Amino acid sequence: MDTQHGIARFPDHLQGFDLRSMPVLRTDVLVIGGGIAGASAALHAAEAGAETLLLAKAPFEETNTAWAQGGIAAAQRADDSPALHVADTLTVGAGLSDRGVVQSVVGDARNALRWLQGLGTQFDRENGELALSREGGHTRHRVVHAGGDCTGAEIQRALVESLMRHPRISVRTPAFVRDLVVSEGRCVGAIVQIDGNELAVEAGAVIIATGGAGQIYRETTNPTGASGDGLALCFRAGARISDCEFVQFHPTTLYIAGASRFLISEVVRGAGAVLRDRNGHAFMQGAHPMADLAPRDVTSRCILDRMVATGDTNVYLDLRRVDGDAAKRFPSIAKICSAFDIDIRSDMIPVRPGAHYMVGGAVTDLDGRTSVAGLFAAGEAASTGLHGANRLASNSLLEGAVLGRRAGLAAAADSRSSGAKLPRVANGAEPVENPPRLQFDDLLYSLKSLMWRQVGLRRTAEGLVDARQRIAFWHHYLQRAATKDRRVYELSNMLTVAALVTEGAWLRAESRGTHFRDDCPARDDKAFCRRIFLQRGADGQILAEQGASTAPTDQPA
Ligand code: SIN
Repeated sequence: MDTQHGIARFPDHLQGFDLRSMPVLRTDVLVIGGGIAGASAALHAAEAGAETLLLAKAPFEETNTAWAQGGIAAAQRADDSPALHVADTLTVGAGLSDRGVVQSVVGDARNALRWLQGLGTQFDRENGELALSREGGHTRHRVVHAGGDCTGAEIQRALVESLMRHPRISVRTPAFVRDLVVSEGRCVGAIVQIDGNELAVEAGAVIIATGGAGQIYRETTNPTGASGDGLALCFRAGARISDCEFVQFHPTTLYIAGASRFLISEVVRGAGAVLRDRNGHAFMQGAHPMADLAPRDVTSRCILDRMVATGDTNVYLDLRRVDGDAAKRFPSIAKICSAFDIDIRSDMIPVRPGAHYMVGGAVTDLDGRTSVAGLFAAGEAASTGLHGANRLASNSLLEGAVLGRRAGLAAAADSRSSGAKLPRVANGAEPVENPPRLQFDDLLYSLKSLMWRQVGLRRTAEGLVDARQRIAFWHHYLQRAATKDRRVYELSNMLTVAALVTEGAWLRAESRGTHFRDDCPARDDKAFCRRIFLQRGADGQILAEQGASTAPTDQPA
């Protein structure tokens, strides 16, 4: 490993394994992840006749889906249409969204809602119709929600009940997937830790639906399990990865020392809440034509600038002008805040941005196929070109439902003809001499702080080169820690994802969507209206390839 030049070499497996002696579970389709994308994939694969095993490392109430507050975007009213929803998605995507993918996913939005309702999801209603709210970047009210701000929890409840009663679905949790097994170019299964034991799963097809990687940042809205495992698994398996430089920061995360960084949903701004600085100034007015409902990247950077200008650690969200009783409209936000003596009807909520959504992931087509045969991805772990350089609010539950379904159906079909067999071989790891003694938490927090400072909302070439070098160094000695501790595996995955984000951010020498470079603050369509693809090379290095240049899709076609 060449730490002098910050070049990390990533192994194809985190640890050696011996498939001659390991216990083996056999399934047609293996789904990794229990949020909306994984559940949709599993339910549709099983409906198509595939025996399906779903593995989730965290309890179902700790997925990003279960934590989603805002809702699921779908045009409903006479003043709205799928075409307007497509246009808003393309505008927020800052020129890089794939128009065909956007049209395809948005075009399926009403079907996805009907499917979720068919599973028993109870969305909020008003005068007999679905109640709609509005979030940043949307020009219409089209966000369908449940329980006010408890949308994800209600969707997750209905999904889990359906998973549990399906005769062809087995669910194992907590189950941690350490590595994928690729044989003769095809993904044929995985090495899994369940109840402290390691076993192999042989699968006709594998679907990665592990969600995001917000935990690589010091400030994040994501649950602790969001360590980018799926992205790292795909990368080690040799799949093409894209768009990692685009990490979406949510502008309003509760910021109280010692409190967990709870999301304060954008729907509160859609309902009239206003961002203010410590002097009471409503700084988003005049900063963008959509003011407090500007796209998230714009709002998050305005907040950071305001914090610097006023010498404060945060800004404030003022809900006093929200129509109706804010505590009734947003019960979970009201409850969390009241635990810190904040009454959201009269007090302002201290907020600042936090890492929220990983736009990048394993490159897939519209059926979830990655570049590795037998390996599929869906939801936040995938990269389809839907979000471009930034994601429109409430498009991710939609993406999970729609593309999870397509991945599930395609994987079920694929598994029938795959003849996948785990090779009965040993993939030995070299014994490690003098393994380092590590303070795990110190390394974890060093990574989170580094990413926040140097690969966060504002980046520079200098900071990125330095981050790349540090990550390579840390990854090198963590690899030698020679332990079967899941936390070490997760940290290794986080370092891998951090390296991919940093690499993409360094290569993209412009500013676009969520990616902002202080040293090149303008968008450069001539050089960078293209995607950046990353892949693991034979020697373990990250190989980069610039995609074909395209016309910006936020301009008229
Ligand atoms: C929010 O409720 O503000 C988050 C919704 C999303 O990220 O799509």
